[in-house]
Amino acid sequence: MLFHVKPRGLFITFEGMDGSGKTTQMHRLAARLRSQGRTVLETAEPGGPPVAMKIRRILLDSANQELSPATEILLYFASRAQNVDEWILPALGRGEIVLSDRFTDSSLVYQGCGRELGAQAVEALDRIACRGLKPDLTLLVDVDAEASLARARARNVAEPHCETRMDDQSIEFHRKVYDAYHALAAAESERVKLVNGRTDIDAIEQEVWSIVSRYV
Ligand code: TYD
Repeated sequence: MLFHVKPRGLFITFEGMDGSGKTTQMHRLAARLRSQGRTVLETAEPGGPPVAMKIRRILLDSANQELSPATEILLYFASRAQNVDEWILPALGRGEIVLSDRFTDSSLVYQGCGRELGAQAVEALDRIACRGLKPDLTLLVDVDAEASLARARARNVAEPHCETRMDDQSIEFHRKVYDAYHALAAAESERVKLVNGRTDIDAIEQEVWSIVSRYV
């Protein structure tokens, strides 16, 4: 099931804690690349194509507190499999730049480490859903667990919505996620680049561009 031909485009993912500001940074990067004439596909996980968006609703609905860790990880990968097949691979095949707000690294840190399902389970599901597709570059927007959770919860109060199931998890869960992201950046330093998310939006944008400009 692995690819025999590497898709031609460039695949860049954004990772980080909830409320790290990575979504804003991804939109800014997309705008800059488009202004330079590049074709960019933006996607955000869980989600992407319509079927994946339906799975997203189950995953993030705060009413679904009984979702088991096994169901949770399978649904994240079900959403990803659809996104890979329907959106990401075709775009990369056309030579486009694909930007994804979260990808398999999120499953590794939230489900593999946060829920303690282990890296092997994540790798096994990744082989089925992604079939060897790995990001060329991952930007990890780094903020502290406490600050990120406070920001995410404040946002949920300011703009009430029901997609808060993951934000409702304890601070201990979010600390495990934070540690796992740092372990990942250390283990895969070639691919995963840390970006300081504690400065202002423009400074973060500059740091992102100083990294990405080496790839485009
Ligand atoms: P979302 O509302 O998209 O917020 P953001 O990405 O800005 O934090 O929430 C997605 C949530 O799902 C987030 O808490 C991280 C979690 N998640 C996982 O636990 N595993 C995954 O594989 C992915 C893609 C996301």
